[in-house]
Amino acid sequence: MFSSMVFYPLAICISLLVSSLHMVAAHTHVHGNPADELVDIINKNRTAHKSSKLYDNPGLGCMALQYIQAYNGTCDESKSPPEVDITEVFAPDCGVELPTVQTISGRLLACRSHYAKPPEAFSQVLIESKKSLSVLYDGNHTEVGVGLSGTNSDGPYFWCVLFGSGQPNSTFELEGGQALKQKQGCFSGSGVPCSAALMSKVLWSFTGLMVLVAVMGSSCLFL
Ligand SMILES: *[C@@H]1O[C@H](CO)[C@@H](O)[C@H](O)[C@H]1NC(C)=O
Ligand SMILES: *[C@@H]1O[C@H](CO)[C@@H](O)[C@H](O)[C@H]1NC(C)=O
Ligand SMILES: *[C@@H]1O[C@H](CO)[C@@H](O)[C@H](O)[C@H]1NC(C)=O
Ligand SMILES: *[C@@H]1O[C@H](CO)[C@@H](O)[C@H](O)[C@H]1NC(C)=O
Repeated sequence: MFSSMVFYPLAICISLLVSSLHMVAAHTHVHGNPADELVDIINKNRTAHKSSKLYDNPGLGCMALQYIQAYNGTCDESKSPPEVDITEVFAPDCGVELPTVQTISGRLLACRSHYAKPPEAFSQVLIESKKSLSVLYDGNHTEVGVGLSGTNSDGPYFWCVLFGSGQPNSTFELEGGQALKQKQGCFSGSGVPCSAALMSKVLWSFTGLMVLVAVMGSSCLFL
């Protein structure tokens, strides 16, 4: 029989359990794919500034991740990979059809020793000067792709945004509609989750929350 002595702890326990389940749900949402989140932030900022919304092109996104990989984890933004790598290395490694590759109409690149969530990565890492704002708002852009990666779970973390000005659905086209699998990192537009190093950290914190829910759930059973 329920006495109020038992009932109150049980009610508290259940409401705590429900709120921690909410935390897990929020957490999963936030970490869906930070590259896609960054594209959303870019588009919101552009449209607020009366610039057009850009198409989230997975071919361009994958090339942005390849672009980062050309730095071999060396956080030296001045060492741009040679232009020729775009067609000779990045496109083939992503499965982008060569005839659909076009010139990149703008580029934002940054690296830091610590990870930043998409809103901070946007405002504090990528957009740090008037020059990067003019790249962001350029009226010639029609499409965008974002790549990000950490070479291992301690960084450095790289963010790369590539803009294109071609016909969104006939440039940077992927053979068979899907990018070749990338070793690590995240890119936008594909609906594919991030792979390896960067995400292991995120997964660990997710696992931590799941354990919390399990512990709370089982302690509720004992009441
Ligand atoms: C990365 O490694 C490749 C191959 O070893 C080399 O050609 C390239 O210059 C390196 N890039 C940087 C930025 O060090
Ligand atoms: C767009 O981003 C820039 C750089 O972070 C910021 O200064 C500006 O306030 C943003 N605009 C809007 C409408 O959010
Ligand atoms: C937009 O494209 C035109 C034609 O290619 C070029 O002349 C112009 O400089 C570009 N605008 C910007 C802001 O890059
Ligand atoms: C490109 O997209 C537009 C609008 O979404 C569509 O009308 C057009 O048929 C598409 N073109 C190709 C080549 O897929």
